Amino acid sequence: MSRRRQIYEGKAKVIFEGPEPGTLVQYFKDDATAFNNKKKGTITGKGVINNRISEYLMTKIGEMGVPTHFLRRLNMREQLVKEVEIIPLEIVVRNVAAGSLAQRLGLPEGRPLPRSILEYYYKSDELNDPMVSEEHVTCFGWATPQELDEIVAMSLRINDFLSGLFFGVGIRLIDFKLEFGRHYNNDDVRIVLADEISPDNCRLWDLRTNEKLDKDRFRRDLGNVAEAYQEVARRLGILPESGPVDVEGPKAIQ
Ligand code: TMP
Ligand code: ASP
Repeated sequence: MSRRRQIYEGKAKVIFEGPEPGTLVQYFKDDATAFNNKKKGTITGKGVINNRISEYLMTKIGEMGVPTHFLRRLNMREQLVKEVEIIPLEIVVRNVAAGSLAQRLGLPEGRPLPRSILEYYYKSDELNDPMVSEEHVTCFGWATPQELDEIVAMSLRINDFLSGLFFGVGIRLIDFKLEFGRHYNNDDVRIVLADEISPDNCRLWDLRTNEKLDKDRFRRDLGNVAEAYQEVARRLGILPESGPVDVEGPKAIQ
């Protein structure tokens, strides 16, 4: 890890001061937690893979037209991002019943939903990230109604885009979690996608076999966790730097 001033340490990442004002460095750890830190472990190589997967997905989302905090990847475990004021909400987008939705409403896991659902959770470890409604969000000033409209529109665009992208590599996007922030640029404030998008915060099932290729393998002790993350990276056409992608090809002999 490089010598930078640490600003914040989360469960899966550390945030450092960036090299220029208005930038931050996100360092991806191998640590994994579930059920609000009750289950802890390490997934060897996860940080390297998530750094790459998140770089890839954030870049594509930016190219598609939704602004993100991502600037560039710095090395195996670090990426440079724009400094934003994080909106204290986790936005969960669901296409198929799974996880807490399946449990709460007694739905079989894997049942496609008639339409995509958005849920809001208030980011608070002490309170266990409680689910909240739009009314709570605006009443307590976590986001203005205009900001929330923008967050909803951006989340649905990201869902359509990522569903198609993953479908193209034989993966069903069951659900995922997003975080947004306010990016201040002189007098201008803009909502941008922040945090990361990786198998840590998505449910990704193989299209053919329904095999889980995400953090549920860790949450539910299914084994082969690192292998599942690697498989996602492989299908997206990105592998860790040491992988075959970076091996030099044959050289022409003069
Ligand atoms: P859930 O079914 O447990 O509510 O999770 C929905 C999606 O959100 C799933 O893809 C995992 C992701 N998620 C996070 O990224 N962080 C969290 O703290 C939780 C609870 C879920
Ligand atoms: N990341 C969350 C935690 O550690 C929950 C989860 O992803 O299951 O508590």
